[in-house]
Amino acid sequence: MLRTHYSNEITEELNGKKVKVAGWVQEVKDLGGIKFVWIRDREGIVQVTAPKKKVDPEIFKLIPKLNNEDVVVVEGVVNFTPKAKLGFEIIPEKFEVISKAESPLPLDPTGKVKAELDTRLDNRFMDLRNPKVMAIFKIRSNVFRAVREFFYNKGFIEIHTPKIIATATEGGTELFPMKYFEHDAFLAQSPQLYKQIMMATGLDRVFEIAPIFRAEEHNTTRHLNEAWSIDAEMAFIESEEEVMDLLEELVVYAIDYVREHNEKELEILEFELEKPKQPFPRITYDKALEILADLGKDIPWGEDIDTEGEKMLGKYMKENEDVDLYFIYKYPSEAKPFYIMKYDDKPEICRAFDLEYRGIEISSGGQREHRHDILVEQIREKGLNPESFEFYLKAFRYGMPPHGGFGLGAERLVMRMLNIGNIREVILFPRDRRRLVP
Ligand code: 4AD
Repeated sequence: MLRTHYSNEITEELNGKKVKVAGWVQEVKDLGGIKFVWIRDREGIVQVTAPKKKVDPEIFKLIPKLNNEDVVVVEGVVNFTPKAKLGFEIIPEKFEVISKAESPLPLDPTGKVKAELDTRLDNRFMDLRNPKVMAIFKIRSNVFRAVREFFYNKGFIEIHTPKIIATATEGGTELFPMKYFEHDAFLAQSPQLYKQIMMATGLDRVFEIAPIFRAEEHNTTRHLNEAWSIDAEMAFIESEEEVMDLLEELVVYAIDYVREHNEKELEILEFELEKPKQPFPRITYDKALEILADLGKDIPWGEDIDTEGEKMLGKYMKENEDVDLYFIYKYPSEAKPFYIMKYDDKPEICRAFDLEYRGIEISSGGQREHRHDILVEQIREKGLNPESFEFYLKAFRYGMPPHGGFGLGAERLVMRMLNIGNIREVILFPRDRRRLVP
């Protein structure tokens, strides 16, 4: 390898020893008789100090010719000294430029000179050289790691379902159509129907982490056209409340994991990630409407709670209950998809819930209707044709246990966790109304 140590691995035991570091030139300083280069790698920065009397004259000549962001490899001796800003320096014995950077740069990777989001996204390779941006993606990686770990610990089996599909899942809107040879097909909006089919197999508890595709027409700060969904489905449940328990535990696990493993990144982001207060309050849809009415916002019963309403509720829950995370449940059946189970004794409401994180929905789920004939009826009620769901309905005719699950938006989770205002900040190459490249 071209390096022996990352910057953060150089500890006092290495004092006087030889190391090889590699990275991007962050800054060069020429004080005549002594020259400095700061080199940045994934984990931080190292200082290379080149006093004229101590280093090879070729190295001394090379340093002033460096451009910011050149990729270099430096071999030298570690010297711990209080004179160095970072506590140590490297006195170079070999100094090699292995890739030159053009000048001027498309943006300032230190973040000192602010760039527009579009410029940053157009030059994502350089944007991530900013430690604050890189920190977001290191945290995102750990969120996915925590989620997988959680599910495996809980006895869930990871599945992978098709992303090219023939039938709409969530009611027929917001689909990306595509040609599949001589057939019309769509990009999957959700693994919903497939994860439910898995409940008829005996796998019992499954999860999937995969992209979902939604042809959202509007440019908002919380919608993407390609997002990552963390989906779970479990069988033999008695009510949607057990699914809510699982989701609550998962979200807390992910937050705890980041608190424990990303201390450095949270510090770089200057963000204190608090331990969520448990249990997450569970408020009914009716109660949510009541709160909103008291706050001066009337939502007709049966309608979904809009963005403004969600935001107002978020503020209310923070001020009154001091919570960031809470569920809304017992939704009107007309506001939720056909696959959600209605209450037998009160069919106008159903066993669906949303999980809200500071006024933004990060997940929705519920107990599903597993009784074939009622499910067919519910498909019809939504104005859909049961025939186009035959591949799905079939799985309900030969022994289907009661089941439920949720879809958790990974970007929504990360953006709310870090209190980031725009969802585009937490996905490498966002797909939105305008962005298809890079
Ligand atoms: O609320 P949604 O549409 O629910 C479903 O897809 C169900 N099949 C889930 C279930 O198991 N019942 O999407 C679930 C979550 C949302 O709460 C949101 O976090 C995320 O997926 N999501 C999006 N994230 C970013 N951009 C978009 N356009 C999103 N659409 C949904």
